[in-house]
Amino acid sequence: MKKESRKVIIAGNWKMNMTPKAAAETAAKTAELTAGKNGCEVVLCVPFVDIAAAMEATKGTNVKIGAQNVHFEKKGAFTGEIAADMLVECGVEYVIVGHSERRQYFGETDTTVNLRTKAALDAGMKVILCLGEVLAERQAGITEEIVAMQTKLDLAGIPADQIANVIIAYEPVWAIGTGLTATPEQAEEVCALIRATVAKLYGDAVAEAMTIQYGGSMNDGNAAELLSKVNVDGGLIGGASLVPEKFAKIVDAAQA
Ligand code: PGA
Repeated sequence: MKKESRKVIIAGNWKMNMTPKAAAETAAKTAELTAGKNGCEVVLCVPFVDIAAAMEATKGTNVKIGAQNVHFEKKGAFTGEIAADMLVECGVEYVIVGHSERRQYFGETDTTVNLRTKAALDAGMKVILCLGEVLAERQAGITEEIVAMQTKLDLAGIPADQIANVIIAYEPVWAIGTGLTATPEQAEEVCALIRATVAKLYGDAVAEAMTIQYGGSMNDGNAAELLSKVNVDGGLIGGASLVPEKFAKIVDAAQA
């Protein structure tokens, strides 16, 4: 399978930004500016409380609304958490799992990331599974080992027939929100390594079909070059996704 036949996904990660009112306006504007851009899937992963407003504002458009996390238990005494079924009933199709900010600030580990991924897949959602090395790991020359290990641990026990619903986002932690972007060559190198690791686990066909995104200070200026790489099938975009005009330009860059 060639890159052209893989699904390209441009996903915004709004993080902890936008009240429901702002979410409705921004999502509607994003839909307006990306209308007819069918060369990629367009997703906005919004705060939980914005889901309904963003969903309503993008009804009938090509923008899909996603969430930023999901808990692994079906229900119960887990104050502050959200279960997969709750998201599904709200119409959520995509959910981010394992974002580095969750790992860094909220104590998530590969074990919990794996459990959350399984819960989301079992509920029928598509998972944007984030992984990537921190600066000290890159400087120590162990990026390959770290990323391969995360890929294996985060996918552990997930059956091959569910892998079509997993998108991996390679997000070098040192590039997130810092303005430092991985070079297109660095992004390509690690996305290729992730694909090779998936191939070892699930075979070449599954790996070739998987959408692997790059994330970390992707913007309207650098997206085209990053997305031109053979193993980079889209982007997970934080800061630039908050500005519809910038995000739409990234979507444009993915049309080629
Ligand atoms: P950034 O965030 O684009 O602001 O670097 C990316 C992400 O955290 O997914």
